[in-house]
Amino acid sequence: MVKFLDDNPSHLDPEATALTRVLVVEDDERDFVLIESHLIGANITKFEVDWVSSYDRAEKEIKLQRHHAYLIDHRLGARDGLELIDFAHRRGYECPLILMTGQDDVELGLEAIQRGASDYLSKSELSSFSLGRIIHYSIERMKLAERIRRNERLAVVGEATASISHYIKNISQHIISSFKVIEDHFRTVETTGDVDKAWGIFSRAVDDIYKLSKDLLAVSGESSPTLLPHSIREIVEDVHGLCEMRIKSPGTRFEVEPVTDLPYLTCDAPAIKDMLLNLVTNAIDAVQETDSGRVGIGVTQDSDRNIAFKISDNGPGIPTEIQETVFNPFFTTKGYSGSGLGLTVVRKIVSDHGGRILVSSMPGRTIFTVLIPVSARP
Ligand SMILES: Nc1ncnc2c1ncn2[C@@H]1O[C@H](COP(=O)(O)OP(=O)(O)O)[C@@H](O)[C@H]1O
Ligand SMILES: [Mg+2]
Repeated sequence: MVKFLDDNPSHLDPEATALTRVLVVEDDERDFVLIESHLIGANITKFEVDWVSSYDRAEKEIKLQRHHAYLIDHRLGARDGLELIDFAHRRGYECPLILMTGQDDVELGLEAIQRGASDYLSKSELSSFSLGRIIHYSIERMKLAERIRRNERLAVVGEATASISHYIKNISQHIISSFKVIEDHFRTVETTGDVDKAWGIFSRAVDDIYKLSKDLLAVSGESSPTLLPHSIREIVEDVHGLCEMRIKSPGTRFEVEPVTDLPYLTCDAPAIKDMLLNLVTNAIDAVQETDSGRVGIGVTQDSDRNIAFKISDNGPGIPTEIQETVFNPFFTTKGYSGSGLGLTVVRKIVSDHGGRILVSSMPGRTIFTVLIPVSARP
């Protein structure tokens, strides 16, 4: 299908069309007709072909970015295709630009690549197959380059986050230890209700900053878990002790099933405790509005030599449509009081131990099951 372009701008949405839109920049109409017939005959993909015959029209079209690829003739009246490639690159347009050269002009083709063309093609080798292949590959290479650039950007953001979190974590550790000394001193001094209240807020805020920096570090930095054999009973008892303190509503009960006959687990114990703390804290948060909240931890061993940690609660449950999303970084339904990093950290710790996490949830019953191989291997 050939269309002569008008000047109406429209936006290209590659996802919305199964067609590959190609602009042919060619000042010789006979050459264009030949190229167009090859493109229509190509069976690698369906092409929609547009044509402009002058350099100026081509510049306008490149600015509009409504084509997936551009086939550019070298000779364009007083101007040439290399200038058009320079123009696109100066303006930062990332699109496949393919230069059509004269008879086997390899040197010109190489120059085009050096100046930013994605490929070149001698007019003597025009065929449905060569055109279809070159356009298709150029588009795929461009997508790959974009993915690589995106990953590089994310890696830079990840590294920056990790080093900033490291600093904040160190600073908050200093604040916490000085805070303990000051707190001991204040115990000997009579304080007013306002000071006590402010003291409590300050203390929680410092703990929050420490936890946030630790979580950010865990999700953005490289982790190398230290795997050693540990008693599962001791891990669960420690978590139990820490979580009891977090329960605020008097109606909530924390039930820990006795841990018996379990082998030692080869794991990074602080990380596994952190994982359980995150899951239990979420369960405690979930039953906050419930009159008789129940939060439980149980540990068993399955037939595949996995240790199964089950954390349950009788809160409102997680709607099915967000059961995957809850693991995404910064996803929270708790407004400013949630960081949305807890389950991201949990998933990272589970994967560092070569384990799996499963969620089963309905109103009144949520269970997170974490399976860790007895001899964990990352
Ligand atoms: N036991 C649970 N019951 C109901 N919702 C839960 C439970 N655990 C997690 N969630 C949901 O998953 C979200 C993300 O949890 P998390 O990553 O720990 O971040 P945060 O606790 O800071 O919100 C929570 O905001 C909540 O909506
Ligand atoms: Mg949480």
